[in-house]
Amino acid sequence: MLEDLKNLQNNALAEIGKAHDHDAFEAVRVKYLGRSGELGKISEKLGSLSQGERRVLGQAVNEFKRVVSGALVSKESEYVRSSGPRVDLTLPGIPPKAGHLHPLTQFMRRVVGIFERMGYEVLQGPEVETEEYNFDLLNVPKDHPARDMHDTFWLRQKVSNSKSEIRNPKLLLRTHTSSVQLRAMLAPKTDESLARGRRGETRKSPVRLIVPGRVFRHEATDAGHETTFYQCEGLVIDKGIRVTDLFGTLKTLLQEIFGSDVKMRIRPHYYPFVEPGFDIDIACLICHGRGCSVCKQSGWLEMLGSGMVHPQVLRNMKIDPRIYSGFAFGLGIDRFMMLYYGVNDVRLSYSGDLRFVRQF
Ligand code: PHE
Repeated sequence: MLEDLKNLQNNALAEIGKAHDHDAFEAVRVKYLGRSGELGKISEKLGSLSQGERRVLGQAVNEFKRVVSGALVSKESEYVRSSGPRVDLTLPGIPPKAGHLHPLTQFMRRVVGIFERMGYEVLQGPEVETEEYNFDLLNVPKDHPARDMHDTFWLRQKVSNSKSEIRNPKLLLRTHTSSVQLRAMLAPKTDESLARGRRGETRKSPVRLIVPGRVFRHEATDAGHETTFYQCEGLVIDKGIRVTDLFGTLKTLLQEIFGSDVKMRIRPHYYPFVEPGFDIDIACLICHGRGCSVCKQSGWLEMLGSGMVHPQVLRNMKIDPRIYSGFAFGLGIDRFMMLYYGVNDVRLSYSGDLRFVRQF
């Protein structure tokens, strides 16, 4: 009977060797290891044997099971490995979907980068500002229309009797980044919040700084106006700073952005915090000066406000205007971005519409 078992095992191994799919493996399993299979028939006979013979045969049966099922398992796993789905570790991965910066942010960074390369310091001030920084210290007359409710978002404040107003200065949403000119000069150099009155050394000439940031105007929106937009302020103070330094700096900026053949025009303009003051235009990028709807037939596009820092403003900064002079400018980031990319409605930037944002 041991002989039979040996033959059976050889047959089983031969069949396993030839089996090449699941059904074949299953058939071999049932035929040799199943209850009513070949092994079953031999096991049935165990009962009629003597104890000694039974032990020998029992061991042989166990050995048979071990060898045959082991061979089945290894052949099967070899089959699964060779025919199952493969993992190819050399395939390129699926890149995660990454977002990108808003066109205004991209443009702001470009402008900031240009000034950083010219050695300017980059500062940021608060968006909720006091009347003092936004208007008073910038020499804006008390009755200037810009202070009007129609142009400025004033914040409602609880305390209003005259004494506490000094401790609770009138607050507003800053209408321009020019407010940070004063903060930068009156706050200690190392104070990033630009809060005045802390101890520490304040900024002294020479000063070269820019202030990128968000500003607010209380006005009706249309394709060219928004209640919220971005500006970048610039302030330079040193001995012997002249108006030509201002023009040269702005020309460099415009050339860096719009190309070296950009045509620049300088017009006198009144801003209370500069004297003299200028508006800077460039020849329309769409019609090249011939006149079109974008430049309102004028051939020119207004790009920045600028001028030489007013002596009174220098004094407010604790700078002596008899020794030092400076220039300041403010540019609208939205306007620059729109002209650069040919966007015709400022409101698109703030619409949250991905069809717009994804184009940049
Ligand atoms: N603050 C002015 C504006 O918002 C721009 C400006 C800045 C003009 C600095 C002159 C000097 O219109």
